[in-house]
Amino acid sequence: MIEFKNISKSFSSKNILNNISFKIKSGESVVIIGQSGEGKSVLLKHFNGLIIPDNGDVVVDGKIINKLSFSDLQSVRKNMSMVFQFGALFDSLSIKDNILISLDNNTKLNMLEKNKRVTESLNEVNLSNIEHLFPSDLSGGMKKRVGISRAISIKPKYILYDEPTTGLDPINTGKIISLMNSIKQNKKITSIVVTHELKIVNEFASRVIMLNKSKIVFDGTPKELNSSKDKYIKSFILGKE
Ligand SMILES: Nc1ncnc2c1ncn2[C@@H]1O[C@H](COP(=O)(O)OP(=O)(O)OP(=O)(O)O)[C@@H](O)[C@H]1O
Ligand SMILES: [Mg+2]
Repeated sequence: MIEFKNISKSFSSKNILNNISFKIKSGESVVIIGQSGEGKSVLLKHFNGLIIPDNGDVVVDGKIINKLSFSDLQSVRKNMSMVFQFGALFDSLSIKDNILISLDNNTKLNMLEKNKRVTESLNEVNLSNIEHLFPSDLSGGMKKRVGISRAISIKPKYILYDEPTTGLDPINTGKIISLMNSIKQNKKITSIVVTHELKIVNEFASRVIMLNKSKIVFDGTPKELNSSKDKYIKSFILGKE
């Protein structure tokens, strides 16, 4: 279980999150939506302590992660993988080494087991035999899938996706969504996604949270979101003011 308790965050004098609270139970697939610049990435980085709140607590499985020592935070992160908005692959490393870094940092597996995990996790995202390639050899969609493969390689309990489909064509967007769905079903991972892609809301979410002006303005099912009469929510869904 993850709980955000009265989280506020500002940068300089700009308030990004204002007294945000919610709970996420194991097994949920929560999609957090909002316009560009609303603070979705900032919110997501609070889950794993990449950003520390100015006020409030983030509680993960009973631990207040904004108050943990670095080594205790590292042990929480072993259960919580992040797929970054811009891939965050190391250009100078092969695909295999990009995944190994995560396995080295988060597991105690031996080399043989780690190599097996690399192959397995690439197979799971339908990318076989690309271990020796470099990020510059891959398309945008393939890079996103390598990011997902690196995230699942450590067999986390939670997975955080930051804009997993942005910049992709509809076919590749569909492929990523079905991949996210199979990961959710096969691995029973609790997923938290931030995006402005409504297709992810409709085809993946069990619950949607919407941010606007530093606050949560909606928390419910995709069905409830789509039938909302709220003016702002309707204009977001329809893509016009
Ligand atoms: N480390 C930082 N220092 C200062 N300002 C920051 C920092 N990180 C984010 N911001 C600011 O916080 C605001 C929210 O940024 P964030 O990246 O969370 O938006 P977003 O909703 O993820 O947008 P997008 O949909 O474009 O990814 C922006 O105004 C951004 O400039
Ligand atoms: Mg973002």
